[in-house]
Amino acid sequence: MTSDNALSRSLDTLVGSEYGADPVSWNKRDLLIYALGIGATLAEQQFLADPSFAAFPTYPVVLFLKGNEDSVAAFTESINRTNHIKGLPYFNPSRLLHATQSIEILKPLPLASGPGWLLKKRLITIRENKSGVILESEFTLVDPSGIPYTRITTAMFNLMGKITGQRYTRSVSALPAARPIPRDRAPDWVTEEQTSTGQALIYRLSGDYNPLHISPGNSAILHGLSTLGFAARALVRTIGHGRPSSLRYLNVKFTAPVSPGDGLETSAWNVGTGPDGVREVAFEVKNTKTGKIVIGGGHARFEKWEWTKL
Ligand SMILES: *[C@@H]1O[C@H](CO)[C@@H](O)[C@H](O)[C@H]1NC(C)=O
Ligand SMILES: *[C@@H]1O[C@H](CO)[C@@H](O)[C@H](O)[C@H]1NC(C)=O
Repeated sequence: MTSDNALSRSLDTLVGSEYGADPVSWNKRDLLIYALGIGATLAEQQFLADPSFAAFPTYPVVLFLKGNEDSVAAFTESINRTNHIKGLPYFNPSRLLHATQSIEILKPLPLASGPGWLLKKRLITIRENKSGVILESEFTLVDPSGIPYTRITTAMFNLMGKITGQRYTRSVSALPAARPIPRDRAPDWVTEEQTSTGQALIYRLSGDYNPLHISPGNSAILHGLSTLGFAARALVRTIGHGRPSSLRYLNVKFTAPVSPGDGLETSAWNVGTGPDGVREVAFEVKNTKTGKIVIGGGHARFEKWEWTKL
């Protein structure tokens, strides 16, 4: 009993504390590869070529695995950096499921990082349930002078993982509350797109070399973050009129798998105005092949509208 209490107390301290800062880097070619991994087409020149080339705003979600690696890294090595937290047991990376992901864009990214950028890591949630352990981390991307550019949260579910075995739960996570989808009316924006059969082969070049995504045959699963990117592109194109700086915030829950080649339908609802005049958007993504919702509880914020001045 005493040792259980001691463990709980040490977990109480762990939740909310920083567990390191990893060097990260990217260049213009990394941004192009990411744009292709999330399905960008020639209709989105601004994410593929000069003269107005810009980083797609969700790019930083790849950095927790990419780190500052220029080449291909072993998946276990990359995932160990973030899934191996001092004071917690080691969880088997092959039983890891991506549960949720959010990104808040504070400043537009430069086209190449150069040296000195860091991804600061903080543990913000531990939740044990009957089937495993959820760990949620907050990653803050800072430039060499410490200025934050992006704040990301990622929740990973460690299937069959165990810490206390007592359903220990603690969270300091405080994401903005999402407004529910207004089911009584049709979506304001609907976008349908096709992923390619080689989508995962392209997406992995952004730094997620989990072998799960390249197993031959029909069992291959597309990276959840590629699906997130397809949804973000659909929203930026329709709601943000393609403007790279239009997206301020995005939060998703991964609810079912996508296979490379499946179609994705993103439905979005304008649900009003938020802090500082931002547009509040509720959205979800359906796999048109399986009929299942693959991203649920989607919440996005877009820059305040500048209506055409005449
Ligand atoms: C990842 O961490 C585990 C546990 O400490 C270790 O056994 C394994 O060798 C590490 N793998 C790599 C590739 O660093
Ligand atoms: C435990 O949490 C995970 C991730 O949220 C969820 O998928 C799973 O259904 C939960 N299991 C139980 C038994 O509540």
